[in-house]
Amino acid sequence: VDVDIRDARAGDADAIACLLGQLGYPTSRAVVSNRLARLAASGADHVLVAVLDGEPVGLVTVHTSLTIADDQSVAKLSAIVVDERYRREGVGEALVAAAEDRARAAGRSLMFLTTAERRTDAHSFYRRLGFEETGRRFAKSLF
Ligand SMILES: CC(C)(COP(=O)(O)OP(=O)(O)OC[C@H]1O[C@@H](n2cnc3c(N)ncnc32)[C@H](O)[C@@H]1OP(=O)(O)O)[C@@H](O)C(=O)NCCC(=O)NCCS
Repeated sequence: VDVDIRDARAGDADAIACLLGQLGYPTSRAVVSNRLARLAASGADHVLVAVLDGEPVGLVTVHTSLTIADDQSVAKLSAIVVDERYRREGVGEALVAAAEDRARAAGRSLMFLTTAERRTDAHSFYRRLGFEETGRRFAKSLF
């Protein structure tokens, strides 16, 4: 499908809440509105949506961070989800390509991501897009 990729706006909060539900993080429009505002204020985060017929049908977020090991910042693909009605139609690929273009234009040296072991579909998707599996993620709750 032919989607437009653009920066997320406040008016996308409803659709984004729906997409986050499909990613396994159910939430409300009001909560998403707050998060969009916080992410925009951080200066290190970008939220892009894929729009079809005026409606967001996919979402990607990118977080940029400095590192002690390199002068160039790195870009973390921090979330991606496509509406289940439009999967396997190239929307996810278009979102990642747009995220990569922006990161490259901003001089980022690397894009990386972490993904849960159970998301085997997503692993196939990332490999197909040229991401290599190079490590493991360890996490520990601090509460
Ligand atoms: C992962 C996800 C974002 C991919 O988006 P998408 O729009 O369906 O992906 P695309 O159509 O651009 O796929 C591009 C290629 O990736 C591979 N791919 C995508 N989904 C795949 C799947 N379920 N199984 C195997 N390969 C897959 C294919 O090679 C595909 O090309 P093809 O359809 O011509 O074979 C989407 O499936 C999704 O939202 N999943 C649920 C949320 C999720 O797991 N997010 C990642 C969290 S880490």
